[in-house]
Amino acid sequence: MTMQSHRPFPRCAWAAAIAAVLLYGGAAAARELSVCIDSSSPTAAMDSHLAQAVAAHEGATLRVHKYDSDDNDEVNGMAHFGKLAGHDCSLVLGFPLDTDAPPTALGTLKATRPYAHTGFVLVTPANSKAAALDQLPHDSKVAVTYMTPPNLYFADHPDLQPNVELHDPETLAALAAGKTNAAMVWYPAVVGYQADHGARFEVHPLQERHARFDLVALYDAGHAPAAAAFDEAIASLHASGELAKLLSPYAEAGGQPEGGDRSAMAERPRTARVEAKPCATKSPTGGAPSSAPPALYTSEQATAGKQKFLDDCSQCHGPNLEGRAGPALKGPNFASAKADFHVRDIFTIVAHNMPATQPGTLPHDEYVAIMAFLLQQNGYPAGPSPLTYDEAMKSDVPLLYRGE
Ligand code: HEC
Repeated sequence: MTMQSHRPFPRCAWAAAIAAVLLYGGAAAARELSVCIDSSSPTAAMDSHLAQAVAAHEGATLRVHKYDSDDNDEVNGMAHFGKLAGHDCSLVLGFPLDTDAPPTALGTLKATRPYAHTGFVLVTPANSKAAALDQLPHDSKVAVTYMTPPNLYFADHPDLQPNVELHDPETLAALAAGKTNAAMVWYPAVVGYQADHGARFEVHPLQERHARFDLVALYDAGHAPAAAAFDEAIASLHASGELAKLLSPYAEAGGQPEGGDRSAMAERPRTARVEAKPCATKSPTGGAPSSAPPALYTSEQATAGKQKFLDDCSQCHGPNLEGRAGPALKGPNFASAKADFHVRDIFTIVAHNMPATQPGTLPHDEYVAIMAFLLQQNGYPAGPSPLTYDEAMKSDVPLLYRGE
């Protein structure tokens, strides 16, 4: 999935421009608000209007650094944001925080107060009466975008058939073409698609976990004053009603929580173009494995699964599950309390999204065998009764590495 770079100009040109400002800008330089905006995000236009309004409020001149998170070479998880916040701007706008996520450290970065709320929505044709997943006709096909949280919702709705597409516009195109009965997509992408294609859908907020997000700006410790000024400007734009207008129709004005701990914890959805690790909300064990691990599969299944894994998965995940193009599927970093995976979460990814090049194409019993192999490799014992597809889809046994 390598994508072309749409960077407006090379980094060295940018560095030269900054050097010129430093050399000739002089000591009397006006106050400046510098922001980074993701030009490939559907909220890019909204973010620039917001930045203009905040700069006007602060009496500062605005400098915008555009970057493209679709550019895989440049984006490398949080490290990339650290680089942006450290070098290219004082505030990185439009970062989505999952309101239900178990906290994921933002590293050294911090987040402003949320300035907007948005999230994943259920999208149906204009005449549809279904307003929630359980109101869709039995056996409905539902389009979703690869590796976004809504992929997890199929585990609780076994009669719905996933149709996985790589990008949000393709997911919505599948619905528009009548290939699916519904789609589950990042709301700002729906707004963009309708505007671009003159399409008209019904849109309903999803009630499921990991569907609601706050938008915040990220900053590093050196830019705390810029963040405080941003929070203050947002509060004032909120009070005057201007914020709601700036965010419409992409998002709603963010709440102003009473100073709560905003020490930068985040889960980044894939729509925002960085990998999200889908997780369940609750952590039944809350930490290191304590009780004896359950026997969920037979050793015959694990042996068959090993062969299937070598045939269909090892080229990306490594023959010893150590990770290559895809992440490692074994060990304390994969099956960790922090990742908070349950058997059904992993099995949903495996059976719906893998192999990444041909998702969902293997027979059910082969997916189950592969799951047995993954359990074995993460230290779960074999037992007398075989794992079934339905059990694996429902199992909320936590996946915590127990050694081999
Ligand atoms: C063509 C490469 C490729 C193949 C083949 C492939 N995967 Fe993956 N897999 C990936 C990538 C890339 C990711 C990470 C996706 C992301 O985060 O967006 C991934 C993610 C996963 C995850 C989630 C891991 C996590 O920590 O979030 C699991 C589980 C998984 N793959 C299992 C499998 C299994 C089982 C097979 C074989 C049936 C398989 N994969 C085949 C590339 C591949």
